[in-house]
Amino acid sequence: MKTKGGRPLYFAVLAGGAGKRMKSALPKVLHPVLGAPMISYPVSSALSLKPARVVIVAGKYLNEIKGALETHPLGKKAALPLEFAFQEKPMGTAHAVSCAINELGRINGSLVVLNGDFPLVRPETIKRLVSLHARQANALSIGTFLACEPGAYGRIKRDPEGRPVRIIENSELREEDAGINEVNSGLYVIEPAALKLLPMIKPNSKSGEYYITDLLEIVLKKGLMAGAYVAGPEEELAGVNTPLELGRAETVLRAALVKGFASDGVRFIDPSAVFIDARVRIAPGAVIYPNVYLEGRTSIGKGCVIYPNARIVDSAIGDGAVIKDSSVVEASRVGAGARVGPFAHLRPGAVIGRGAAIGNFVEIKNSLIGQGTKAMHLSYIGDAEVGKGVNVGAGTITCNYDGVNKNKTVIGNGVFVGSDSQLLAPVKVGKGSYIAAGSTVTKDVPPGSLAINRMEQKNVEGWATRREKKLAKKKEGK
Ligand code: UD1
Ligand code: MG
Repeated sequence: MKTKGGRPLYFAVLAGGAGKRMKSALPKVLHPVLGAPMISYPVSSALSLKPARVVIVAGKYLNEIKGALETHPLGKKAALPLEFAFQEKPMGTAHAVSCAINELGRINGSLVVLNGDFPLVRPETIKRLVSLHARQANALSIGTFLACEPGAYGRIKRDPEGRPVRIIENSELREEDAGINEVNSGLYVIEPAALKLLPMIKPNSKSGEYYITDLLEIVLKKGLMAGAYVAGPEEELAGVNTPLELGRAETVLRAALVKGFASDGVRFIDPSAVFIDARVRIAPGAVIYPNVYLEGRTSIGKGCVIYPNARIVDSAIGDGAVIKDSSVVEASRVGAGARVGPFAHLRPGAVIGRGAAIGNFVEIKNSLIGQGTKAMHLSYIGDAEVGKGVNVGAGTITCNYDGVNKNKTVIGNGVFVGSDSQLLAPVKVGKGSYIAAGSTVTKDVPPGSLAINRMEQKNVEGWATRREKKLAKKKEGK
């Protein structure tokens, strides 16, 4: 984006703060918001406006922040390489902006400053503020919002004519200003003329930090123009400083995601009771029951039904597949028309073929399950290759771990594995074979065979009748 006069736009995203109020070892801006680090939201908003350059100011977690933005797609929308400025100590927001300027050098356009703890801000909102700023020929423009609970936000003090004169931080608030509910959102557009005045900002008398909010008074004193504009609703412009605010931000973003999917034809039985990450894709015609968690890079195909309490992480669910109640699917692929659950667990690397059926209390890990194969009850299949049309009987276990190594089980097409069988890997069962129920398969089974490995049954006739008589006699004797 270029400003009205065709001047380029620069961005500084501030992420050098300590984030103490989160009371967490994880840096605040790396806290996940719908599965993506918080910082990736303002950064992707900035990138979507086609800026000349984007600088992220970070402190001791610079490398972690860099890593999170490099690997996360939300930060990868534009081809523009992100730049990073190191702020050795968190000496305040004005100091952070100075760090960005040191990195940028001379700029020939406006600088948009965004707090990094600001995940909900939309590009349109930034664009609007930039336009207003240009139209009013301001040196400094501040995005504000009307807060129900102004809490820790800086209050916008206006003169009787309504012009902004000062931003009063909460810690400095006096009785007479306590009623102000217009607050600073942490979104600013600043001209080079105003940036030159940054060195005039004095450290705050209480905290010793340099506050960007003090720039307003300095700009006005120098006779430059400044404006403060209600840029959007509180819902969008709220900052995240505490775990509660993080939860609230996620709720707002999630509701927007759900609304988008619903308008594309996804049916949510209760739109307020689904938990969907930012990178999830859901095709039209899918039905999502309450209390479903779709996390990470998950895709749900057309017409799928996802029943209550399912949790699907980093997985692809094919068209028309059904995930029944309380199933967990992690880093797996489920083929079109397959059925999984209830109470199934697909662990990483499970690939379920088209039309296959995985039932109650079945755990599958790192295994290929062929088309139309059924494993309906109480089984463990790990490190296996199971062919097409196989029947895996109740209680079948692939014994894949010998205490040292993980070994592979290969089951050919059309095999019938009788209930309660164990397959001691490495082992191969040839196609079309039968495993007798209750067998422990320790050797490869040639195709078309029956493998049976269990004690031959012995019937002791009359044993039960004799026992009953014996017991009855004993009772009489007493
Ligand atoms: C700031 C504003 C406040 C505004 C609020 C909006 C100041 C002094 N106050 O308060 O008026 O209402 O945002 O959410 O600016 N940061 C650095 N380096 C530092 C300090 C902070 O990069 O030395 C970064 C933080 O990582 C954060 C952002 O700047 O992303 C804002 O800092 P934070 O401490 O959250 O300021 P607030 O108290 O929220
Ligand atoms: Mg903040």
